[in-house]
Amino acid sequence: MTSLFEPTQIGDIAVANRIVMAPLTRNRAVAHQVPSDLALTYYVQRASAGLIVAEATQISREAQGYLDTPGTYTPEQVAAWRKITDAVHAAGGKMVLQLWHVGRISHVSLQEGGIAPVSSTAKVAVAKTFTSDGFVDVSPPRALRLDELPRIVADYRHAARCAVQAGFDGVEVHAANGYLIDQFLRDSINDRTDAYGGSIANRTRLLVEVMTAVAQEVGAGRTGVRLSPITPVNDAQQDSHAQALFNSAVEQLAPLKLAFLHVIEGQTGGARDIAAFDYATLRSRYMAGNPKGCWMVNNGYTRQMALDAVASGAADVVAFGRPFISNPDLVARLKADLPLAKMNPKTLYGGGAEGYTDYAVHSAPNAA
Ligand code: PHB
Repeated sequence: MTSLFEPTQIGDIAVANRIVMAPLTRNRAVAHQVPSDLALTYYVQRASAGLIVAEATQISREAQGYLDTPGTYTPEQVAAWRKITDAVHAAGGKMVLQLWHVGRISHVSLQEGGIAPVSSTAKVAVAKTFTSDGFVDVSPPRALRLDELPRIVADYRHAARCAVQAGFDGVEVHAANGYLIDQFLRDSINDRTDAYGGSIANRTRLLVEVMTAVAQEVGAGRTGVRLSPITPVNDAQQDSHAQALFNSAVEQLAPLKLAFLHVIEGQTGGARDIAAFDYATLRSRYMAGNPKGCWMVNNGYTRQMALDAVASGAADVVAFGRPFISNPDLVARLKADLPLAKMNPKTLYGGGAEGYTDYAVHSAPNAA
C-alpha cells in the first residue's frame, strides 16, 4: 500500500511526500501587488509539505478581485517571488504558483481607472469582495468580446513564464471557485452565443486553450489545473449537467499530459456532500487518457481520509488548506498523529504576522 508519507513525482516535480499545501488567499501583499517579506517566512515555515501551491496570484492588473493579493506579471513581483522560491528551495521544499483571473468577482475600486471587471457575461454575481472599504458587493462586469479572448490566453501564458522566471517549480491554473475560467465553464453563468458559449465544447474552450498555452510555455510536466465541479462559492450556481461538463473537461485535458489535476470535492471550505457528483468516474475518465497523471484531491480531508485515499489509490496526493495555516509542521503532525492547532478566522485575510507567521510547531512555545 502506498503511504501518504512516501515520495513521488508530480509531473516533472519530485516531491518528498504526498501532502500538498493548498493555495490560500491571505491578503498580505504590499504596494504594487508584490508579495511581502513576511510571505517568505510563512512559506519557509511550511516547506516540509511535499508541494506548496502558493496563494492565488493575479495574471494581470485586470485579474485582481480582492485587496492586497499578489500578482505575477511585473518584474518587481517576479523579483519578490524569486526571494521566496529561493528560500523555500533552500529549506528543501517545492513550490508552484496558482495563476488567477477573478473575472466578475471584483470591484471597480480594484480595477485600473475604475473600469468594470470582465467576465463571460454581463450578469452581476451575487457575491462580496474585500476592498479598502471592507466587504462590498462585487461590481457589474462587462462581457469579454470574442476578439479579446486571445489576449486573456496570452496573459495566462505571460504570467506562467513570469512564475517560472521567479523560480517556481511550476504553475497551477485556477479554473475553480466561480472565477473567470469557471465563469465560462458553467451554463448557470455563461450566456454567450459565440464559440465560447452554449455547448459543452464551447464552454470548455477557454479552459483548454489556456491549459494548452501554459503547458506549451512552461512544460506540461510543470503545469497543473484546479477544478471545483459542484462548489457554489462566488455565485457559481450548479451547471445543469455538471457531471457531463466536467467529464468532458478532464477528457480534453488528459492528452495534454499535465503534471497534476487538482479537484475540490464539494463546497470549497465547506460540506463535501452538497450535491451528488461521481469523482471516481471523473478520475477514471481522466486517467484513461493520462495514466501517469497525478490526481490531487482537496477539501476537508482528515488524517485518516488522506491515508485511506492514498492507500486505496483513489488519489495520488492530498491537499490540505486551513490545517496548514495553523500547523506549519502539518506533515510532522500527521506522521506522528499529533493534535492539530485550530486556525483563527479573524486573522485569515489581511494584517501582519499575527495569525500568519506566528503559529508554533508542535510542543514549541507559541511565539508572541
Ligand atoms: C478567498 O479569498 O476566500 C478565496 C480565494 C480564492 C479561492 C477561494 C476563496 O479560490
